[in-house]
Amino acid sequence: MTDDRERWALILGASSGMGEATGLALAKAGYHIAGVHLDFRAGLTHVEEVKAAIVAEGREALFTNMNAADDEKRAAALAALRQRFDESTAAGRKPYVRVVMHSLAFGSLVPFLADDPKAAVDRKKMEMTQDVMANSLVYWVQDLHRGGFLDRGSKVYAMTSEGTSRVVPSYGVVSGAKAAMESHVRQLAMEFARLGTGVAVNSIRAGVTDTPALRKIPENQRMIDVTLARNPHGRMTTTADVAEAIVTLSASDSDWMSGNIISVDGGEFVTG
Ligand SMILES: NC(=O)c1ccc[n+]([C@@H]2O[C@H](COP(=O)([O-])OP(=O)(O)OC[C@H]3O[C@@H](n4cnc5c(N)ncnc54)[C@H](O)[C@@H]3O)[C@@H](O)[C@H]2O)c1
Repeated sequence: MTDDRERWALILGASSGMGEATGLALAKAGYHIAGVHLDFRAGLTHVEEVKAAIVAEGREALFTNMNAADDEKRAAALAALRQRFDESTAAGRKPYVRVVMHSLAFGSLVPFLADDPKAAVDRKKMEMTQDVMANSLVYWVQDLHRGGFLDRGSKVYAMTSEGTSRVVPSYGVVSGAKAAMESHVRQLAMEFARLGTGVAVNSIRAGVTDTPALRKIPENQRMIDVTLARNPHGRMTTTADVAEAIVTLSASDSDWMSGNIISVDGGEFVTG
């Protein structure tokens, strides 16, 4: 189906790992990229490289370095996107956010039980992880919906993991956030359908992938070894696998596939 609208993707977590790879793949597929990321001095050079790669595809890279869970900064980032959309509209184009990807990795990797309270989860760590990794999805999507950024054919993807149903010692706080995220996805999918918006919402459950976030998990080497032994392909998932899936799923204008947890893992989850 032809689409005379101007496609944008909003990637939350656009500077690394799955968000970076998907942003670049969507740019190659014709999308402009609005990227949100949280990087400090050492990471900023890489952010410029990511933006340059998108621009080299002939697309725009409108990036904001911010905490995605900050309400005021979210409002400012969306105001900047609104301003950019207004310029397109004034030039006779029809911009919309076709893809929203929530790919934030920012959580406390501590156990629930430790003799030293500082080494265990507490209310602040639990709530911060939940806010960034799960609840922020709802607030961004609310504002995108109210602001008229989404349109028929728009797709929302939230990155989840097998951690919702398996236990890793230091991953319990993130596991809880991922479980909440999957629930938020189902709720948003149902509410968008009832409103007749044409917007689909799904969780993407990636297999274990070698990214900076994985390397921060204390048990990462064991996770890699187990994955290589278990994945029926004998390899780990790559960020390119995830990007390919999202580009392909987003090509459809249908909103009928919604409310799911879609595995992108080469069969890892179903292999014991
Ligand atoms: N790597 C894996 O094995 C794996 C597997 C399944 C699911 N996931 C999930 O995929 C998502 C992406 O993970 P990744 O491995 O690509 O991580 P990554 O560390 O490579 O990238 C994380 C991105 O999130 C951004 N970010 C982090 N906190 C932020 C904040 N508060 N505000 C704004 N931006 C912030 C970073 O700047 C970066 O762009 C995460 O939700 C992760 O849990 C990862």
